[in-house]
Amino acid sequence: MVVYNPNDATLQRDPYPTYEALRNEQPVYHNPDLDFYALSRHADVAAVWRDSQGVYSSDHGVTLEQWSPDARRSMSFLAMDPPDHTAVRGLISRAFTPGRIHRLEPRIRELARTYATTAIEQGSFDFITGFAARVPVDVISELIGVPAADRPMLLRLSQQIIQRDDLTGRLTAGVRQANLELHTYYRQLITERRRQPQDDLATALLEAELDGRRLQDADVAATLMLLGVAGNETTIKLIGTAWRLAWTHPDLREQIWTGRIPVRAWAEETLRFEGPSQYTMRRTTRSLTLHGVTIPQDARVLLVIAAANRDDRAFPDADRYDPRRDTSQTLAFGLGPHFCLGASLARLEAAVVLEELVSAVEVNYDIDPAGVRWAGSPSIRGLVTLPTTVKPRG
Ligand code: HEM
Repeated sequence: MVVYNPNDATLQRDPYPTYEALRNEQPVYHNPDLDFYALSRHADVAAVWRDSQGVYSSDHGVTLEQWSPDARRSMSFLAMDPPDHTAVRGLISRAFTPGRIHRLEPRIRELARTYATTAIEQGSFDFITGFAARVPVDVISELIGVPAADRPMLLRLSQQIIQRDDLTGRLTAGVRQANLELHTYYRQLITERRRQPQDDLATALLEAELDGRRLQDADVAATLMLLGVAGNETTIKLIGTAWRLAWTHPDLREQIWTGRIPVRAWAEETLRFEGPSQYTMRRTTRSLTLHGVTIPQDARVLLVIAAANRDDRAFPDADRYDPRRDTSQTLAFGLGPHFCLGASLARLEAAVVLEELVSAVEVNYDIDPAGVRWAGSPSIRGLVTLPTTVKPRG
């Protein structure tokens, strides 16, 4: 019998056997204690995201821990449905244009090069804290307008929110406190930007207008929090996992380092094979029957993204890590109206950071397996320590 509890901390190390059992044995799994349903097959997860019938709502948030009728207060438009979602996302997308993202590339490269140089001089360092965490926090902070002096605090708070060992299924006092501190910080930033506008995303969000409508300060603060946390932790974890997977696959690593496998394909397959997003969640607005199981109205339905990305029905031999495969059906960034707003930024950051490493570091780098530790929140999984030793590329 399958038992799936996303709050179980032991799942962090290797959730994939559980995901396989879900897909094959109980494609609609019901957990009676936590009272949720879980969908794990690619086609089922994709169908919920596309939701052509309007059956699924995000209005109670997208995690079990934060399930609440006023989730939008802390999760912004991630916890809204159309038409509100369409309007608010429309406003934010205006400030978050592909042009704005594209213009970041030289700066991302400069940051990656600087941090890579420092790390290589050390030779042995923790890949996550000593390298991977540096670029995303700088990039999102520069985009939002968070001054350099405040960034360590931003990183600390977003880690407190995401990286924890106490997966109790409830938001602990520490996590609540971190959320509150972050919210207060962004409210202050907004007040400053109202007084003195700058060329940054915080100001752009305050000024963005659609059909005469503007965002309230509370919505801007929630959005900045969403971007700050989503933008940091997921991307850090993607870069860290890519580094480990290339190490465990020396043949592929050789091909990446000699340019036969593009770095972007390496990042893309990492997202599919071991991407950071484990699940998201929806509420049913009416009852429905799927694979013979009736899901009632107002049920919590988990879309187990990381399970769907290992479904053989969508990806032949899905448990094989192979950056040469077709990853176009990946669900790592979601689908439909809530498709990850930061997907192009995350892809760009990962590609640039990994490219800089490939050009600066010898192919035969090492990892100390004893120091490898996985952790995260129940919905985001990744490495928190990854001791590595590198030599400069000759
Ligand atoms: C939404 C994954 C990076 C901002 C999402 C969703 C997923 C996802 C699966 C859909 C959630 C749902 O449907 O309930 C990821 C992964 C990332 C990443 C795997 C990195 C590897 C980023 C970055 C940013 C960002 C860098 C911003 C700077 C957002 C926002 C949404 C979102 C704002 C909500 C979109 C909406 O509700 O319309 N992300 N994300 N993400 N992501 Fe990302």
